[in-house]
Amino acid sequence: MEDSKCHQWLHQLGLLALSYLVLKQVWILLVGVKNHILPLWWRTDLKKYGGWAVVTGATDGIGKAYALELARRGFDVVLISRTMEKLQKVANEIGKQTQRKTKIIQVDFTGGPEIYPKVEKALKDLDIGILVNNVGMSYSEAGRFLEIPGINKTIEEMMNCNVLSMVHMTRIVLPRMVERKKGLIINLSSAAGVRPYPMVAMYGATKVFMDFFSRSLNSEYGRDGIIVQSVLPHLVSTNMTRNPAANILVKTSDDFVREALNTVGYTHRTFGCLSHSIQAYILDLLLPETVMNSRICRFIGGCAMSLLVKIMKVD
Ligand SMILES: NC(=O)c1ccc[n+]([C@@H]2O[C@H](COP(=O)([O-])OP(=O)(O)OC[C@H]3O[C@@H](n4cnc5c(N)ncnc54)[C@H](OP(=O)(O)O)[C@@H]3O)[C@@H](O)[C@H]2O)c1
Repeated sequence: MEDSKCHQWLHQLGLLALSYLVLKQVWILLVGVKNHILPLWWRTDLKKYGGWAVVTGATDGIGKAYALELARRGFDVVLISRTMEKLQKVANEIGKQTQRKTKIIQVDFTGGPEIYPKVEKALKDLDIGILVNNVGMSYSEAGRFLEIPGINKTIEEMMNCNVLSMVHMTRIVLPRMVERKKGLIINLSSAAGVRPYPMVAMYGATKVFMDFFSRSLNSEYGRDGIIVQSVLPHLVSTNMTRNPAANILVKTSDDFVREALNTVGYTHRTFGCLSHSIQAYILDLLLPETVMNSRICRFIGGCAMSLLVKIMKVD
């Protein structure tokens, strides 16, 4: 009698657990449809945020794609990067393709706090609706932390470029957004900031910072009409990733950015496009962090990452 009661109880518990798991997957699916399928018909009108968009690292890859796409969607664009010729080339391209205005700021974000007064001055009188904190660097040669070539310089430059730039650019642009009760800040984090990634430890950690800062800031300033969106791409074909051929897993920067911009207003944390969201979902399902952290997986993961960075020579 006692045994059958216990059986019944376990049976109910099993059903409950199964229902929870099924409902969780259905919920994830519905959220995916909301974030990636609904925007095919209904998109947030970005123009409501203001007249100008500011993009850091705007001359190549994902940053250039954001600059061009925002210009196509009606924004004048401030382009910020290191190389003047590239800045002028992108400004011309935007002018020709979209007839929107551009402004150029030449800055090297590996510098410290001393570089920001120049940026602040150049942005002073603009009605900035969107800030895209895109600039970022990885290693010239990836490897275990102590094996990073020129480690002292790399630590300083990577922290300045990936972390300090986002925080300072936000400090410069946010006050006017709060005054006007509207604004959108997009921060380019990375899927490398979702779970520990051996061989690119410091890069991944800077991306975790970006993601956490974005999520907290989104909560702090939501009531002021500000959206802070954290974007966590998997592989996008750019100079940083040595321009691999685009395929079902690897996106071109133009395709990636078009899809990522469509998710604004639907989610404040996104892998950016449907393909990358599916990749994240499958990785999570097959290799949750507890499994990843097991000794055998750490060993296999370490070897796989070494091989990958050797093949791709991540920049
Ligand atoms: N590509 C991917 O698969 C991928 C995946 C996840 C996350 N992300 C993130 O997405 C962002 C863009 O990556 P990406 O692949 O498009 O990079 P990218 O192709 O290497 O382009 C980097 C851009 O930033 C500028 N830049 C680089 N260092 C700079 C510095 N010190 N100061 C000022 N500008 C600088 C470059 O122009 P100049 O050289 O002229 O300055 C260029 O316009 C990064 O934050 C990256 O971490 C990329």
